Amino acid sequence: MERIDKIISSQGKYTRSEIKKLAAKGQILVDGKIIQKTDIKVDKNQVKITINAEELNIKEHLYLILNKPKGYVSATEDRKDKTVLDLVPEELYRDSLFPAGRLDKDTTGLMIITDDGELAHNILAPKKHIKKIYEVTLDIPVTEKMIEKFAEGIKLNDGECKSAILEITGENTCKVTITEGRYHQIKRMFGCCKAKVIELNRICMGNLFLPTDLTLGECRELTTKELELLQKR
Ligand code: URA
Repeated sequence: MERIDKIISSQGKYTRSEIKKLAAKGQILVDGKIIQKTDIKVDKNQVKITINAEELNIKEHLYLILNKPKGYVSATEDRKDKTVLDLVPEELYRDSLFPAGRLDKDTTGLMIITDDGELAHNILAPKKHIKKIYEVTLDIPVTEKMIEKFAEGIKLNDGECKSAILEITGENTCKVTITEGRYHQIKRMFGCCKAKVIELNRICMGNLFLPTDLTLGECRELTTKELELLQKR
């Protein structure tokens, strides 16, 4: 059993003081009955809560997908830059959200935002071997030698990377599949090949590909099917 104001505020749309005011005005109904006090305790899995004639769809956790544009940092707050949380639509926003993993400020593409720490661990922990695919543009042509080096495992200053798959897609472009998520990993791996990454776009995590209709900067809830794909090796 949980306090009704806690249940409602956890869904992000209303603050506790707003909830108090709404209840005082008779605009909150629990199982069809108006409540005046917001400290009553209910079972959130059993009750129907209606606010302003709209039923509250209670969700324990939120799972969002964002097509990250350049210029946003992967953090919950930042003193000088805009964060990926600034791109979460107001109706989906809750204070507990955080980006599951990091993309550099100048990297674009698939980013998961959630308030579920367990899910974040499942997709980020190196032991889980969740694959991530990046589209890469380099300042120089991609070579067969790079394919070999990536497959062997590139040595970075913080240890050796696991074998990665590099697929040439154009003169200066390729796709890279990794199963880790080290700091600036792709840029540092190419740095070891004397190449500079000009554009970096993540297109896949697990078996979830960036939906082609999700435009840059767009953020929406994942479907149940997409959430399953995300956690697949
Ligand atoms: N590797 C990088 O170097 N940068 C990213 O943003 C993601 C992977």
